[in-house]
Amino acid sequence: MIQAAKPKKETDQSALLQRFGERIWICDGPRVRMMTIPFETRMTIVELEPGVLWVHSPIEPTPNLQDAVDSLGAVKFIVAPNKIHSLGVEPWKKRHPAAEVWVSPQFRKRHPDAPVDHVIGADAPPAWSSQIDYLCFGGNIFLDEVVFFHHNSRTLIVTDLIQRHDPAKETFFWRFGKRLAGVLGDKGGTAIDLRSAFRDRAAARASAEKLLRWNFDRVVIAHGKCITENARSTVEKAFDWALR
Ligand SMILES: [Fe+2]
Repeated sequence: MIQAAKPKKETDQSALLQRFGERIWICDGPRVRMMTIPFETRMTIVELEPGVLWVHSPIEPTPNLQDAVDSLGAVKFIVAPNKIHSLGVEPWKKRHPAAEVWVSPQFRKRHPDAPVDHVIGADAPPAWSSQIDYLCFGGNIFLDEVVFFHHNSRTLIVTDLIQRHDPAKETFFWRFGKRLAGVLGDKGGTAIDLRSAFRDRAAARASAEKLLRWNFDRVVIAHGKCITENARSTVEKAFDWALR
């Protein structure tokens, strides 16, 4: 689903780190609403080297979460993977002023006052690019998402391009709506409204093909159920609209 408004926090549930693989952790954040639509939120943390952390799509920090992250190491990089995911950038930069903030190509235009240091794809490749590959997924007139591949854990990190909202956490109304939108549970994928905004199908196809050349076997999903089995076929199916 395309999210066009600023998110509103729906719950205050605190979040702690869960180990997802070799040198990678995820952390579930508060449920937020965008244009009344509820979204689970999730951030990802990669340890680049002992005590050096890369934080993707940071959620709103709580004291417990900050303490948990501090126990892992120092945040050196903060990444906003698309122009919508701005929620935690400023508070995390405030807490870790030495960290470099890397953002998606259109982020700065949408958030001119955000503390941005570098634009992914426009600036020289970041120091972390030897461990985390990146791809600015092309072809969409609205969404400027950057997807990532963490070599050590063979993990693909996706934000909004593939969504798999947990049916157990949705009301009947939203289960119905999200199933129609193509973003519910194991059958989730690219939301139908987002698909319709891919006007350059050749660019989308090239991006999907490039992404599938990465040697991943698991996927972090920012909104919904992560993928730990049959990752490649699940992602191929999610991008069938681009690949056909
Ligand atoms: Fe999102």
